[in-house]
Amino acid sequence: MKTKVGIDRIHFYLPPKYVDMGLLAEARGVDPNKYLIGIGQEKMAVTDATIDIVSMGLNAAYPIIQEEDKDLIDQVIFATESAFDYSKAAATYLHESLGIHAFAKSYEIKEACYGATAALQIACDYVRLRPERKVLVVASDIARYGLATGGEPTQGAGAIAMLISKNPSVLALEEDSISLTDNQYDFWRPDYLDYPLVEGKFSTQLYNQCFIKIMEEAANKHLDLFDTLKGLCFHLPFSKMGKKALQAYQDYLNSKEGSLDPKVVLAFNRWLEVYPDLIQIGKQVGNIYTGSLYLGLISLLVNGTALNAGDKLGLFSYGSGAVAELLVGQLQVDYRKVLKLEDLNKRLAQRQELSIEEYEMIFSEKLPNDGKTHLLEPSVLPGDFYLTKIDGHRRYYQQYKTQTD
Ligand code: CAA
Repeated sequence: MKTKVGIDRIHFYLPPKYVDMGLLAEARGVDPNKYLIGIGQEKMAVTDATIDIVSMGLNAAYPIIQEEDKDLIDQVIFATESAFDYSKAAATYLHESLGIHAFAKSYEIKEACYGATAALQIACDYVRLRPERKVLVVASDIARYGLATGGEPTQGAGAIAMLISKNPSVLALEEDSISLTDNQYDFWRPDYLDYPLVEGKFSTQLYNQCFIKIMEEAANKHLDLFDTLKGLCFHLPFSKMGKKALQAYQDYLNSKEGSLDPKVVLAFNRWLEVYPDLIQIGKQVGNIYTGSLYLGLISLLVNGTALNAGDKLGLFSYGSGAVAELLVGQLQVDYRKVLKLEDLNKRLAQRQELSIEEYEMIFSEKLPNDGKTHLLEPSVLPGDFYLTKIDGHRRYYQQYKTQTD
């Protein structure tokens, strides 16, 4: 029998500040229901300058790394599309701060919101060949389109960390997957721009097309998937996105009526049923780019009361540009036990709401780039990592310790 490999632990870091989407809509002269219902977002996570992709990644990973893992983790793979350095990988900071052994390799991966899925695949393949070893995968992004732009309501920030091992506690991933590449400009960011360029409507269409093409391929070559997949997780830049893909798929199914295997239609209904569980957390956070698919997975695991160990889930990953992939995983016996629910609920409850003026001020802040020494004040919760200092164009991170610590 083959060794099971997959996600042994998974954790989400949520920044401590947010904007209410109803208030943002009012400030932009838009009917709040467009954001709340049409786009499906209630709150949007906001980061200030002391919270960057590294500190968020560290905060996601720190609680799931145990002492014995530090000698077993051979790779730290950091997926992001909001890197602050073109050369040095964000993973190198995590490698040091988490105390991973020196002979591990640490690097960064980019392909828009698909990056974390590529990292996860590399990690699983590595562990399949070396079942005693582990890989840490981190997805961390700050999704920004600019103030008062079309993409503004689909911003957000956060990080996901996943520890990949044999006999995983959460989700065992299958070796086979269906992937697709289509060279397009739906969302991209040339190196001279602060924010990405986006063709919003086109990106939604392309996402839907990629989903349908992958589902066609699944129906042709992997029909059994439609029998077994209890739920389908989507990359969710906003909570309506996966629903739109399901609607587009339904239109496609209707256009093929009579020629499709009935199990394809039955599967569709099951996926629609679990969809509300998938979006519960993301609605409170917004887009976290490459971690978004995995935030949806956490939300489904936390809220999906109809799920049981042994159920199979599909993960539909999409990254603009565009690359898509469907992965399949099987829920493991202890999957609920290892989710750090208390921490997640605490972070959701303790967040500070920003006024629109505060949000706009924070959004426009820039870190000094003069190469001098700048000490930064923490805005995170005690115990969390933050960017403490920049000095000679170098960044330094520490845990925020209060006087009582
Ligand atoms: N009450 C209820 N619903 C309302 C409403 C109201 N008063 N007013 C409008 N709506 C609905 C609209 O009918 C529409 O619903 P449908 O999509 O079901 O038709 C929805 O609200 C959004 O309205 P618009 O399409 O008019 O909104 P928009 O032109 O402002 O664009 C957007 C929305 C395309 C998501 C835009 O915010 C955007 O470009 N975002 C960034 C790009 C993006 O996230 N693309 C997704 C796929 S690509 C990807 O996933 C990669 C990535 O992460 C970047």
